[in-house]
This record gives sequence, structure tokens and C-alpha cells, in this order.
Amino acid sequence: MTSSDPADPTDLSTVRFPDGFLFGAATASFQIEGSTTADGRSPSIWDTFCQVEGKVANKDTGDPACDHYRRMPQDVALMQDLGLQAYRFSVAWPRVIPTGTGAVNPAGIDFYDRLVDQLLTAGIEPFVTLYHWDLPQVLDDRGGWLNRDVAQWFGEFAGTVAAALGDRVTHWTTLNEPWCCSVLSYSLGHHAPGHSRQEEGLIAAHHLMLAHGTAVPIIRATAPGAEVSITLNPTQVIGPDDPTAKDQDAMRRADNVLNGLFFGPLFHGAYPNTMLTDVADVTDASWIHDGDLTTIGAPLDSLGINNYFPTRVRAGDPNDNPTGMPGCAGVAPVAPQGRLTDMGWECNPGAHRDILLRSARESGLPIRVTENGSAWPGDVVTGGAVHDPERTAYLLSHLAAVREAIDEGADVRSYFAWSLLDNFEWAFGYDKRFGIVHVDYETQARTIKDSGRTYAAVIAAHRGRAGGA
Ligand code: FCB
Repeated sequence: MTSSDPADPTDLSTVRFPDGFLFGAATASFQIEGSTTADGRSPSIWDTFCQVEGKVANKDTGDPACDHYRRMPQDVALMQDLGLQAYRFSVAWPRVIPTGTGAVNPAGIDFYDRLVDQLLTAGIEPFVTLYHWDLPQVLDDRGGWLNRDVAQWFGEFAGTVAAALGDRVTHWTTLNEPWCCSVLSYSLGHHAPGHSRQEEGLIAAHHLMLAHGTAVPIIRATAPGAEVSITLNPTQVIGPDDPTAKDQDAMRRADNVLNGLFFGPLFHGAYPNTMLTDVADVTDASWIHDGDLTTIGAPLDSLGINNYFPTRVRAGDPNDNPTGMPGCAGVAPVAPQGRLTDMGWECNPGAHRDILLRSARESGLPIRVTENGSAWPGDVVTGGAVHDPERTAYLLSHLAAVREAIDEGADVRSYFAWSLLDNFEWAFGYDKRFGIVHVDYETQARTIKDSGRTYAAVIAAHRGRAGGA
């Protein structure tokens, strides 16, 4: 721990938050729902990807996941037991519009309609994310995020959901982590649809932002007064202690494709200039059309940040691109330092604070931490408990980091633990457990982990200070 790291709190009084701050937990449709063929849902690109040899650990699929589609009322009761003030979930496009565009599936929308009612009855504020990576396969068959028309398709989907839920839901997020469903999915091949072409990641990113910008006014018109947001996953890029000019160039290139790719168009009206130069060898950028940046820059009310770890790089061979990211020739990845989670991610609360401060500065918006959490091996249920000291320490140290970001001027308004439940962790299948609640996938039994109990105590103390609200 360095002098700039936030204190690792030993008692809960160190994690006091402003009145009005909301504590919640987050999930995503494909990761928890299961029932992938129920009630007219069509396959998503993740159902397809799970069938591709070698892409998902253990050949795991979206079934049964947490069987949340059928156990939703009990899961909301669990949230109530934890004292959650807010719950962030995503809507499965293939349930709501199985053909991607056109006819709405009443059973699909009904599920989210009941979920929202159940949450409100339990006194839990619903936060809806429209897209958390489960694109209908039928739309991928038409080019998916590489087809510019996806902006209109997404606008139609957003309008459909806003019309159904907008009378009760006031917090709307268009996209979850567009970096993951563009660069990671189309350039690096790790996520669905699993393409590996450098240019495609940039095209997909552009169309994702265009879809976002198309949806924003539609949501506003359909759900007046709504808070409209996007969730990004920026990461603090850390170089060597005493960086050379070449190290700094490597840091800049990595920062452009990890952060500037989205901060630029969304908040500064342009892609970082240097990024367009760096990627000139893989694309002519002809997919940027006149007027696109105006659409993309539609004003927002808040910015969602998902952040788990920083990214370390240094200068490498200028003729080599080991990261595989567009524009990153000469960028050498550096191993994470200190304590690592089961994902191999560096625990670095100071970097979490710093990225919140930067996100607030770049966007000029109130910030909501829409995901943060950690996976650790060895969660065992004994006597109705799961002792997970590492997850608890990660949680408390990152809450302290959020508190520091607030003290240093960022208007952070909520924290959502990732995740409410252990769930399907994408390419890692069910191997990695992020839940504050343990799920036994054989029996679907839920057990609140010690981290969940600690979080509940933090929330109870916060609510108590705010007069029991
Ligand atoms: C984020 C995703 C979320 C989950 C966590 C661990 O990138 O948004 O679905 O997989 O990572």
C-alpha cells in the first residue's frame, strides 16, 4: 500500500456516505436468468458463443444460471433482507423482441414489468440497463454491431422498454461497458460474437455509441423526467515509476483505446486525434459519418462507471502489438501487482478512486458506480455461512476509495456491488464467483456470504443515519 492508497477500513464508521447516496447490487440478464428458451425468448449471441468449442470454460451455457427468471420474487425478497436501496438489472432484448425488430413478445416484457413492481413494493429503486451484451442472434445474422442500422434497431428496442416501464422506472442506462462488446468482442475475440479483426472493434464501438445517442432522446420522450446514463468501464493506465518518453507513448496509446475511445465522442465531441492517427494502419475511419458525433454527444444526466482494476503497460517493440488492441503497436502489457483476485485482477483501491475522479472530470456529470466487486476461490457453505474475508476486504477498501473520490470533489451518488449473486461469468462460465450471495447451482440454494452481511451492515448504518429512509 502506498501513501496515496485509501485506508483499508477496519470499522464501518469509516465508510460514511452523504445523505441520498444509494447502495445497491447489480446483475445482468444473461448471467442470472436461465430459462433461455422459455416464453418465446430467441437465442442471443451469447447462446451461440457458448456452443463454440473452446470459448467458454467447461462448455457452460446460460442455463440454468441462477434460475432467476423463475425465482425472481424470492430474489427480490433476498435483496430486501440485505437492505438494498437499489437494484441494477438488464433487459434481455431476445425476450422482449425475439425477432430483434418488430413484434413485441408480451411474456418477455411482462417479466420485467413484474420485476419492477416487485422491487417498488419492496422499497428498492430499479435501475434498468438496456443492453448488457445479449444481442439477439437474428440481428448478428444481419451484421450485428458492424451494421450501422443497429442504431435504429436499438432505438426501437429502447423505446419499447421505456414505453412499458417508464411510468415506474426513472433510472435508465443505455449500454453496459461498450468497450467489452466492441474491442474485446470484435478485435480480441474473447466475447461474443468472437471476431478478431482490429478494425471491427472500432466500428462496433462507433455503432454502439451511435445506438446509445439514438436511444437517449427516445427514452427521454417516452419516460419524461428519467435520468439517462451510459455505463463505461474506464481503467487507470499505470506506467513504470519513472516513465521514459517511449513508456509515455505506450501509456497514451493504451489510454486512447481503453478510455479515450469513449470519453472523446461522448463528452468531447471527437475521437482523440492521436488515436485516429495510431489506428490509420487498420482503418480509414470511413464509418464515421457527418453528424454522428452530434448524435453520440446527446446530453446525459449521469455517468455509470464499472471499475475493478487498473491496467499496467510499458514501452515494447514498436513493431509488435502483444495486446492486440487497435493502435497499440509498441505497448507491452505489465503484470498486475500486489494482491490478485481469482480473475488475476489487481486489487488497487487508489486506482479506483483515481478513475472515478477522472471520469467525473471528463464527463462533468454525477457518477454512479454501477459495478465493483471481486471473485475469490474457495467459497464454501458451512453451517449456513460463507466466510469470504478477501471479498469483504475488497468491498470495504473500495467503498473507502469511493468516499475519498467524493471528498476530493467527484459527485458520486451510488455504489452497486457486483454482484448480487454468483453467476455466469462470461468466458469463465460458472468458475468465477463474484456474488455477495452464494449460489449452489445444483440446488439453487442462496446463502448470504460474510461480505453480503458486512454490506448489509454498511447499508443499515447509512439508512439509520439518514433517518431510517
Ligand atoms: C464486468 C461486466 C459484468 C461482470 C463483471 C465481473 O465487465 O459488466 O457483467 O462480468 O465484469
